[in-house]
Amino acid sequence: MSQPTPNIESVLHEERVFPPPEDFSSRALIGSMQEYERLWQEAHDAPEEFWARMAEELHWFKRWDTVLKWEPPHAEWFVGGRLNISYNCLDRHLETWRRNKAAIIWEGEPGEQRTLTYGQLHAQVCRFANVLKREGVTKGDRVALYMPLIPELAISMLACARIGATHSVIFGGFSTQALIDRINDAGCKLVVTADGGYRRGSEIKLKPAVDEALKETPSVKGCIVVRRTGTRINMQAGRDYWWHELMETVSANCPAEELESEHPLYILYTSGTTGKPKGILHTTAGYLLQTHLTTKWIFDLRDEDLYWCTADIGWVTGHSYVVYGPLSNGATALMYEGAPNYPEADRFWDIIERHRVSIFYTAPTAIRAFIKWGEHWPLRHDLSSLRLLGTVGEPINPEAWMWYREIIGKARCPIVDTWWQTETGAIMISPLPGATPAKPGSATRPLPGIEVDVMTRAGQPVGEGEGGYLVIKRPWPSMLRTIWGDDERYRKQYWSEIPGVYFAGDGARRDQDGYFWIMGRVDDVINVSGHRLGTAEVESALVSHEAVAEAAVVARPDEIKGSAIVAFVTLEGSHKSSDELKETLRRHVTKEIGALARPDEIRFTDALPKTRSGKIMRRLLREIASSGSVAGDTTTLEDFSVLEKLRADEE
Ligand code: WT7
Repeated sequence: MSQPTPNIESVLHEERVFPPPEDFSSRALIGSMQEYERLWQEAHDAPEEFWARMAEELHWFKRWDTVLKWEPPHAEWFVGGRLNISYNCLDRHLETWRRNKAAIIWEGEPGEQRTLTYGQLHAQVCRFANVLKREGVTKGDRVALYMPLIPELAISMLACARIGATHSVIFGGFSTQALIDRINDAGCKLVVTADGGYRRGSEIKLKPAVDEALKETPSVKGCIVVRRTGTRINMQAGRDYWWHELMETVSANCPAEELESEHPLYILYTSGTTGKPKGILHTTAGYLLQTHLTTKWIFDLRDEDLYWCTADIGWVTGHSYVVYGPLSNGATALMYEGAPNYPEADRFWDIIERHRVSIFYTAPTAIRAFIKWGEHWPLRHDLSSLRLLGTVGEPINPEAWMWYREIIGKARCPIVDTWWQTETGAIMISPLPGATPAKPGSATRPLPGIEVDVMTRAGQPVGEGEGGYLVIKRPWPSMLRTIWGDDERYRKQYWSEIPGVYFAGDGARRDQDGYFWIMGRVDDVINVSGHRLGTAEVESALVSHEAVAEAAVVARPDEIKGSAIVAFVTLEGSHKSSDELKETLRRHVTKEIGALARPDEIRFTDALPKTRSGKIMRRLLREIASSGSVAGDTTTLEDFSVLEKLRADEE
């Protein structure tokens, strides 16, 4: 067997380029590449001056003294400044005509609708902040939020932020054990939850999981419950209180605390693919600044827009681009509680048509599901209100990108493919829709103020077109500050793998135009006869065949070749699995990227194992491909039946 090369080889080549439509650019906030380059250069030459200039856009109770204190790997931004993110998202708009503008338009899965203006949202947030205070929550305390996607979740976050409590949102799909681990890790004082929520037509109960969890969480002193479904639940006297009852007993007046720039805003647990969940800590000023700016630049927000990010608030995308980014910009954000295929596979298109959504931001996993369900669903609806599309979460295969562009965007709407992480807090690499010519499958170029590179493991920049490790070379305002309670892990995981830079954990290459192409997580890289290939490229080759909806590629040990490529494939609506199709697909990959990447084995399946946020869990597929079973940790898996089916599908 030959020696593995230290780097990741890039094999996929995508040549299509789509410049922004003229009429989009002419009205856009950033309307040309020259303008982007000028900003990027300004930030590159004098980063602290650049960020200081940008920070003028925020509301400060007291201006900062020092823009950045950088003692690697710890950064403090806008030291000496005082502000409040809840003030920036709410109070700031009340003195303007936006007081009576819709802040949130919410739709429940069963179909009910609620609209909250900035004035109304402000009043609710103030009331709940007073409730928190009355329950004994003070500045610095941690509060766990375990709720469905209802306005009360955003209200709770903003209320915590208003009094300086640190929120920890725990995705409503997690069960008791995940809840226990997260509550205890952060030492939360209070839990805010609901009786339940709706998902795919059924009620998901939340309170019973909380009841179980609270037996093992000594730090929790109380629990506030929103009545959402009306189901019968247990309310423990002296511990559990109804949201609607408490809200009646407090005033709607609660001035925002003047917090220090580095005051801890939230902890958000990210599973990684293995091991103990990491509590990613974000603080106030830097996080606000970068979510504010990126929302404005990338989504090109205008007051008349209806903006919809489909993410659950339980993920960072929901924190940054459902709640804080849009509200700090005074936007109108749509929120939808439920599943994309309830009551039918066109719920999203139905929502877009009825509400006249203009900006739509979703994930590749959703797009691949839409492709699989068939284009007749979106084609049934008037999607002419859309003017901008976005994607986040995984590399998007060029063919899925094309489908999104043609079928949803009618070749009219720019697509922003946004690369970032829970850890980065805000989008780092993305097209600016009025400026950047898009290439399907590329997140294009870093935003102003962001210095990214592709390096070898030893920290040497690689050449143009070569694969390597994606790194960030300078601190940025919305970066994570540490891992809650485990600073050593923070240093090791992010700042020690490659000396002196932030290690993102993704493989990438940069092309001749300075565009970044993300090749997948480096833990997923497959090694074939000494060639290390990124999963995204081989999968994209498979997805470029008309029969394929989704593909996940892994390596399994092979006595002869060292390792063999196994591809798990789901098919588009009308296509049927057959041995002939397997052969066709293998030939197709050979044609697209070469015999090197030809799958040794293709397995058709109905579904792929995914995390709850929709990422394919290749680690589990690797186990299935090599040993036929899964022994590793599956707590982040969304749908366990998928594993059963995959085992059963084995020949
Ligand atoms: C990982 C971060 C960022 C919010 C949602 C996920 C992958 C994310 C892209 C993209 C290629 C992407 C990366 C990254 N990823 N966006 N546009 N193109 N890959 O947050 O759960 O912290 O995951 O998601 O692998 O490292 P997260």
